[in-house]
Amino acid sequence: MALPVNSSVGYYFSLPPLPLLIVSSFSLVLLFGMAYRQSGFFIAFKRLATERLAVVNEWLQNIRILRILGWTELFEEKIFERRRLETVNRLSMVTNGSAMSAFAQVAPSIISITGIATVVFSQRTVSPGEIFALLWVLSIFLSRPIRSLPFNLVMLLDGLSSCRRLQSLFALPTEARTLLQSEKDSSGLALDVEGLHLSLDGVTLIENLDLKLKKGEFVAIIGEVGAGKSLLLDSLLREAPATFKSYRIDGAEALDQSLDQLRAHFAFAPQEGFIMSSSLRDNVVFEYGASHSHDEAVRESLSLAAFSMDSTAVTAGLDTEIGERGVNLSGGQKQRVSLARAHYSQRDIVLLDDCLSAVDVDTERLLLDYLIEGAWAGKTRLLVTHRLSVLPRVDRVLVMRDGKFILEGTYDHLMQTSAEFRDLTSSMLEKKEVALED
Ligand SMILES: Nc1ncnc2c1ncn2[C@@H]1O[C@H](COP(=O)(O)OP(=O)(O)O)[C@@H](O)[C@H]1O
Ligand SMILES: [Mg+2]
Repeated sequence: MALPVNSSVGYYFSLPPLPLLIVSSFSLVLLFGMAYRQSGFFIAFKRLATERLAVVNEWLQNIRILRILGWTELFEEKIFERRRLETVNRLSMVTNGSAMSAFAQVAPSIISITGIATVVFSQRTVSPGEIFALLWVLSIFLSRPIRSLPFNLVMLLDGLSSCRRLQSLFALPTEARTLLQSEKDSSGLALDVEGLHLSLDGVTLIENLDLKLKKGEFVAIIGEVGAGKSLLLDSLLREAPATFKSYRIDGAEALDQSLDQLRAHFAFAPQEGFIMSSSLRDNVVFEYGASHSHDEAVRESLSLAAFSMDSTAVTAGLDTEIGERGVNLSGGQKQRVSLARAHYSQRDIVLLDDCLSAVDVDTERLLLDYLIEGAWAGKTRLLVTHRLSVLPRVDRVLVMRDGKFILEGTYDHLMQTSAEFRDLTSSMLEKKEVALED
């Protein structure tokens, strides 16, 4: 609006039109440019805040696991990095905003001065009335539209970006449709992973790995220390930053699911067994101040996990405080509490990271008979183990080395066909004998 009015003002007063046209166009282009930049900062401001909130939420929800895995610092660094980016963006936004507002304030005066200067230099005689009319049009009539122009423009662009965000939200498929798709899936696979790849600090630890587990299948993974077995389980739980060509759980796309949705499919017993400093009951229910109403299920879970309530350490039954501030459990007892927790959670897929390593042979047999092959007979089970005695009992053995599966098959088949497997199992046996002699 300012541009045609300014030019017509020059024309009306029979002034050379060029100076007013140039100064007005220059001011407008500059204000448009600044407004456009400002709306960019606004959009980045919202995006960065959303991203930071997502990371903070993830951090809060998983703080226990992050602490066990020693990942708190990594996550905190991620949060600080977001804050740093936000601060930089905020500074640019304030600087650009101040410059824009200052220029919008002085632009009408610059245009008025140009008008007067044009009158003076054109040496045209003008009456005081004409001068008054010229100044009135340039500095009063046009000043408010010019001053508010960049702010209106920023709001318009901001509104457009909000519309786009809403549009992308409305375009998301509904939960119901996702469920229907998974119901149609008849592959019978509980886990279907293709092209799992994990690098940490530039080192490739798991390379292009495929893993398919049928529903209800019991699969063991064996391999040397450092082969990547624990990282594989962490990757399935999306604890480790692995990438996937595809990852489906029960036929549904796993990468589209939130961390909570994805982890709701899994029970997980970590290698060292995890104990929180609270009562035995809280540890099985995995909730501080868990209600007594579940005690029957808690006792059943502990019993299936071969955790003896008659032990002298367990003085106050399920109320016995364990963990840092209570009774210090042995490694094997911790593992059994983790197994009881895994049973209590009633999840479909159970990931067990060498959770039999600290129990004796008799307990191992009890755990396999009553829990892993008993109560969990219908569940999909993936067990990392160093125990040779387990292998004949599983449906399939996977041998892992340097982040890859190098052998796969039933125990009998591998024993008959693979010299490498026979060597590996006999070395497992030797290590166990050495350990027993120690
Ligand atoms: N957070 C990490 N950062 C870098 N390397 C790691 C990390 N965690 C494990 N590793 C390395 O990855 C390899 C596999 O580890 P892991 O999965 O724990 O082996 P396994 O459970 O088979 O004994 C090891 O060489 C280990 O040093
Ligand atoms: Mg491990």
